[in-house]
Amino acid sequence: GKGEYDHYMLKEINNQPTSLANTIEGRVEDGDVAFEDLSPGTFDGIESVQFVACGTSYHAAMYGSQLVREAGLRTEVLRASEYEATTGPVDETTLTVAVTQSGETADTLDAVRTAADRGARTLAVTNVVGSTAAREADDAVYIRAGPEVGVAATKTYSSQAVTLALLSQRLAGDVPDATPAADRAAMLEALTDLPQHVEAVLESTRAETLAQDTLDSESFFFIGSGLGHSVALEGALKFKEITYEHAEGFAAGELKHGPLALVTEETPLFAVYTSNGDEKTKTNAIEAQSRGAPIVAVGPDDNPLVDVADAHLSVPETHPVWAGLLANVQLQLLSYHAAKQLGRPIDKPRNLAKSVTVE
Ligand code: F6R
Repeated sequence: GKGEYDHYMLKEINNQPTSLANTIEGRVEDGDVAFEDLSPGTFDGIESVQFVACGTSYHAAMYGSQLVREAGLRTEVLRASEYEATTGPVDETTLTVAVTQSGETADTLDAVRTAADRGARTLAVTNVVGSTAAREADDAVYIRAGPEVGVAATKTYSSQAVTLALLSQRLAGDVPDATPAADRAAMLEALTDLPQHVEAVLESTRAETLAQDTLDSESFFFIGSGLGHSVALEGALKFKEITYEHAEGFAAGELKHGPLALVTEETPLFAVYTSNGDEKTKTNAIEAQSRGAPIVAVGPDDNPLVDVADAHLSVPETHPVWAGLLANVQLQLLSYHAAKQLGRPIDKPRNLAKSVTVE
């Protein structure tokens, strides 16, 4: 049941310190990543990694794909529903990774079946043991988030992103010119603090006040760069899904290529950043601010954007690879509180189903 919580969504958001600890448990040792179900050498001969996913899982896949790229492998992330229409050739050097919480999403199953037919190796990254994706793929890795009841994916997104980050490091172990081990070690060491950093966000968040202050607006915009880009897209999806308000996410630098025309004092802009270096996010947020938009900085305190922003949703200082996931927890809470203040049926938004088994 929901226990002390008004909604499953809030329960699941608050469960993240535990679910993330489960995701990580036993998988990192001495700066190395091991997955219980993947024997050493599983990825020998893999030269490129292709992610297929839908919705929130696509945003987790974007996160993972960037880390795979940074680790030195060729990678792409594709909307599963567009796979058939857009993908190029694959072969046995391609690893096609289906990222699907339920393991039953028809579009994702269809994409991974097509990839397998064309000769790719396949891997399912899923929450559900025995799901169709897990059974059909050559290999499976479980995100171990525990059951998620709310239609809006929250804890499963966080566990997907962490699992894919670990996968990126596991893959990097198999390629000669991958990220230097020292960088990997720092990133993996910081991961052990992630559950307690999420706890700190949950305890100190000002998302409810922020939701109240910004709710009477026309549209809600979310921007970010790099890993922050995928978080901005996820923040906007969650927001529109449960509040029924218009929300959109953009790569920070794209704002001036069209969306800026919509920016007014009625369009609060949430700027997600992961480290001090997110210059693009800062410049573009300031551009929107000069058109009257209230700016909310979402990220660590040590960032120049904090000084100019109208408000700040703060997250603990951590390795830049994990900061976006903390920012995302703030945005989950923002969406939750906004939807609650609007009286929406948070756990079951209209027109949506937990698992989309039609194409
Ligand atoms: C949004 C949401 C959906 C799912 C998408 C894929 O909150 O939950 O966008 O992420 O339908 O579902 P899975 O991961 O089960 O394939």
